[in-house]
Amino acid sequence: MNLSAELVNFAYIISAALFILGLKMLGHPDSARRGNLYSAVGMALAIIVTLLADSIVSFEVIALATLGGTVVGALAARLVAMTSMPEMVALFNGSGGAASLLVGWAALYDEILGTSAPSTFILITIILSILIGGVTASGSLIAYGKLSERMTTAAIVFAGQRIVNSLILVGIVGSSVMFCLEPTLGSQWFWVLLALSLVLGVMAVIPIGGADMPVVISLLNSYSGLAACAAGFAIGNNLLIVAGSLVGASGIILTNIMCKAMNRSLANVLFSGFGAAKAATKVEGEVKPIVADDAFLILEAAQSVTFVPGYGMAVAQAQHVVRELGELLEKNGAEVNFAIHPVAGRMPGHMNVLLAEANVSYEQLVEMDDINPRLPNTDVVVVIGANDVVNPAAREDENSPIYGMPIINVDHARTVFVLKRSMGSGFSGVDNPLFFKENTRMLFGDAKQSISALVAEFKS
Ligand code: TAP
Repeated sequence: MNLSAELVNFAYIISAALFILGLKMLGHPDSARRGNLYSAVGMALAIIVTLLADSIVSFEVIALATLGGTVVGALAARLVAMTSMPEMVALFNGSGGAASLLVGWAALYDEILGTSAPSTFILITIILSILIGGVTASGSLIAYGKLSERMTTAAIVFAGQRIVNSLILVGIVGSSVMFCLEPTLGSQWFWVLLALSLVLGVMAVIPIGGADMPVVISLLNSYSGLAACAAGFAIGNNLLIVAGSLVGASGIILTNIMCKAMNRSLANVLFSGFGAAKAATKVEGEVKPIVADDAFLILEAAQSVTFVPGYGMAVAQAQHVVRELGELLEKNGAEVNFAIHPVAGRMPGHMNVLLAEANVSYEQLVEMDDINPRLPNTDVVVVIGANDVVNPAAREDENSPIYGMPIINVDHARTVFVLKRSMGSGFSGVDNPLFFKENTRMLFGDAKQSISALVAEFKS
């Protein structure tokens, strides 16, 4: 079939509208599923229309690639543990970047072998899709390596790093100009540009410490959108331009939200080598452990209980028993809610997703700014595998690397139970004075087992 350009573009406008509507709906838990569906319908429409348009070279290859992609995607979604989701997102971003790079590269063949000489504008868009796509692909692979601990998670910094990076940038600009001046398929400048783009991705991500990786993932997600946008210009596909811009913009907004939640600028995340400069004041004092039987007695008498979940809840997969404990507490007459820190866990919305999976009602989820004023009147706060996001050093210790990061002020509650396995630190590697506070009791052990023990007490 040979669809007219008008029809294709009309379908693309509908797809773009569905993407935007879908994105908007993702902003609220009630409409998020429908939002996902709307976007998926938009994408299906875009794919069908593109396949029916006239420039398809081989349906067999496309069918094979679709099959391969579907199998890998379905397996990944089924098999990858919730705690490994950020690594998977890193790989997905990398694939997006690599795809844009390849589209830009393929467009080059079209342009150079075409009847007229390629315009400078098209050449620039091709170069941008190769550059941004290359940076995203190799940078995402390094991010994957760091997050999955297949390589060191620490920031890799060496003398003269900035000079090396500057030289790479100069090389990229120089090779791009040379390539534009003489765009041939065998041009050595093209290979230099491609190689330097990949090297730049590696160099951009290695100096970033593990704790800042989620921010980098979001930034790379934004880059993958920009690369797709550039590829859209290169092949003259309007929908790719729109979709790429949407991904680019939403990625950068998310990056900004995360930086704000950590009270840091993006430049600080990208260039500071987190924690290297400061040494937090040593925390000392007496730790007061508690066993589940005694914790139960305090909870049984509580009128108000706030759960504060963190990364450890995801590790322990404790969300279902937490919901059960919440219900038992409510039956016992307590007011129960869940305080959500914007960067709790390892990815945006991590806690919301886990609690939604366990059917905790959205009305019970309270954001940090809303819960903090209520905490002084809260009887018991139960911290479940959270650490950095409840660390009072962010408020009290000017020497702490996390000083200034907004936290949930759990230490303001009447009693705090901290559920974790040891005295170990959180993702940022910073000690936590909360554990030594007068009103804190440490309930050591795997969070799921500890909560299950409390549930068993309530039921017996
Ligand atoms: P963390 O500070 O990483 O603390 C998690 C705690 O969970 C650990 O101290 C660990 O202590 C405990 N834990 C692990 N497995 C457990 C288990 N099975 N049972 C009970 N406890 C367990 O987590 P957080 O408070 O959620 O903070 C998130 C961190 O990630 C912050 O530093 C934040 O800045 C960073 N970050 C997050 C994001 C996003 S988008 N979420 C973005 C950028 C940065 P034990 O080993 O002693 O058990």
